[in-house]
Amino acid sequence: MGATLNLVYAVTIILFTISSTSHGYDPLDPFGKITIKWDLLLSSPGHHTVQVKLENMQEYRHIDKPGWKLSWHWESKQVIWDMRGAETTEQGNCSAFASSGTLPHCCLRRPTIVDLLPGSPFNSQVSNCCRGGVLTSMSQDHTNHVSVFHMTIGSFPDDSGEFTMPSNFDIGVPGYSCDNATSVAPTKYSTDKGRRKTQALAATWEAVCVYSQFRSSQTPKCCVSLSAFYYRNIVPCPTCSCGCSSSHCVKPGEMPPYLEQKHDPDEEVSPVVECTKHMCPIHIHWHVKVNYREYWRVKITATNLNTMKNYTDWNLVVLHPNLKSVEQVFSFNYKSLTPYHNGINDTGMFWGVKFYNDVLLQAGKIGNVQTELLLKKDMGNFSFREGWAFPRRILFNGDECVMPSPDDYPRLPGYASSSTSSSSAASSFVTIMIITLESRIRKNNFEKLEQYVVIPSDSGIYHSLEIAEKARDTNRAILIGKFDQGSQPSLDKGRKLQILTSHTLKPVPITSEYWIPSKSKPRCINRVWY
Ligand SMILES: *[C@@H]1O[C@H](CO)[C@@H](O)[C@H](O)[C@H]1NC(C)=O
Ligand SMILES: *[C@@H]1O[C@H](CO)[C@@H](O)[C@H](O)[C@H]1NC(C)=O
Ligand SMILES: *[C@@H]1O[C@H](CO)[C@@H](O)[C@H](O)[C@H]1NC(C)=O
Ligand SMILES: *[C@@H]1O[C@H](CO)[C@@H](O)[C@H](O)[C@H]1NC(C)=O
Ligand SMILES: *[C@@H]1O[C@H](CO)[C@@H](O)[C@H](O)[C@H]1NC(C)=O
Repeated sequence: MGATLNLVYAVTIILFTISSTSHGYDPLDPFGKITIKWDLLLSSPGHHTVQVKLENMQEYRHIDKPGWKLSWHWESKQVIWDMRGAETTEQGNCSAFASSGTLPHCCLRRPTIVDLLPGSPFNSQVSNCCRGGVLTSMSQDHTNHVSVFHMTIGSFPDDSGEFTMPSNFDIGVPGYSCDNATSVAPTKYSTDKGRRKTQALAATWEAVCVYSQFRSSQTPKCCVSLSAFYYRNIVPCPTCSCGCSSSHCVKPGEMPPYLEQKHDPDEEVSPVVECTKHMCPIHIHWHVKVNYREYWRVKITATNLNTMKNYTDWNLVVLHPNLKSVEQVFSFNYKSLTPYHNGINDTGMFWGVKFYNDVLLQAGKIGNVQTELLLKKDMGNFSFREGWAFPRRILFNGDECVMPSPDDYPRLPGYASSSTSSSSAASSFVTIMIITLESRIRKNNFEKLEQYVVIPSDSGIYHSLEIAEKARDTNRAILIGKFDQGSQPSLDKGRKLQILTSHTLKPVPITSEYWIPSKSKPRCINRVWY
């Protein structure tokens, strides 16, 4: 029954994903788009002043370095005389203006425009320009999601000089495609602190660009591995998630080619990944870490295996039914995404804290970022069964990551048919201690223990959890630690109790708080064997 459900679920997800990516429509961000708005501010024959505004109206996708490169096709013989806040990459053949004293900025039929870099001369700037073509997502940084430039347009001497809207827009970022501009209501500008509104003189046009991962790249760009405190193996990323070619990967100890070859900072450098079985530039790991009575805790790690790139303003989008009850997110920013505003917020976005972990550095020991989440159990729906604790989808920078097959998900010991019998070989015991809340407040000094329950480890952790659930009562916190045969707590190098999992009335960070005084022994008042 469970397997059938998993299968049905997997099939629907796959269909859903394919149809959504190939049409450039994203159900997680149904209104996501980048608009190119043209405001004709002033217009007389042969002389037109235009403001162009690129606006990233996507919740989580952003335009990273090397930034947008806007191009279009002039329908009539137009030239750009002057540009502020941006520049064309080439001037083209302006020999028709050789006699006029000054030459236009660009005479190409298809000009390519790039944003100026930060710190450009003040007289070439306009407001909201000069960020090197980077557009942040709306959720991540609402102040930098637009780019603006101004230009004056004229015509070749043999042209009528009428303004005609260009066509075939392209923002020069893989995966985006734009339709032709359509006429929209003139943009209104507010002046005098909003007391007066002026509007674009002649007209406003808007072209809309949408993203499709399918168009962006034939192969995925990231993968997900899974693990859980109740399962001894890590479920790795599927083999060849991002292709199989080992010719472009860097073996451990090898010099990343980035250091060897020169490259143009204006070009996106194609990834050179560390050699792995999955060959992905980005690896996400989801670990179900701790089980508390009313909460559970997940650790998410994103690792950069691309030796060519630091991911600035990276973000993760996660789909999990329990995200509607996120209690706390450590060291990342979090925003719940509710695309349809229907109250089902099972989708959330995570991103780094500015100047702390907003850059996912290139491969190496420091090439990862981590968070932990504390989620409140929805008692009606929460379960560790059938992979419920694992995410349905994960996106890194707006691109879908490859998930392991549901058949491979970590299983509860003794639950799924194919799992082998649980860890009977372990020599230690799994002990459940029931500590009064009062003693917990006094830093869990073991002298204060009133009662604890010892369960032989061959009962398996899942059985232990069941016993713990039965044993708990409303005034008590329950802590499960590893103990040896003589009821001595088994300590790690840092003299911390090796915690397997814990049930508490209130969530607590386990590893740092459960210090054991060196000479303390648990006082055994009541031992119950199962
Ligand atoms: C530049 O344009 C002029 C006409 O405007 C043309 O005569 C000339 O051949 C062009 N030069 C090149 C190099 O294309
Ligand atoms: C945009 O308009 C041009 C010319 O009017 C046309 O050739 C082109 O096919 C149009 N593109 C789209 C995507 O409709
Ligand atoms: C990534 O950042 C590190 C540290 O700031 C820097 O040394 C390295 O050159 C950067 N790599 C790239 C590809 O920009
Ligand atoms: C769920 O979404 C609502 C808005 O639709 C929001 O107010 C609430 O904080 C969200 N809950 C969580 C846990 O993100
Ligand atoms: C379980 O989840 C479904 C939707 O995911 C929701 O409609 C239902 O109310 C939940 N049950 C409980 C007891 O919260």
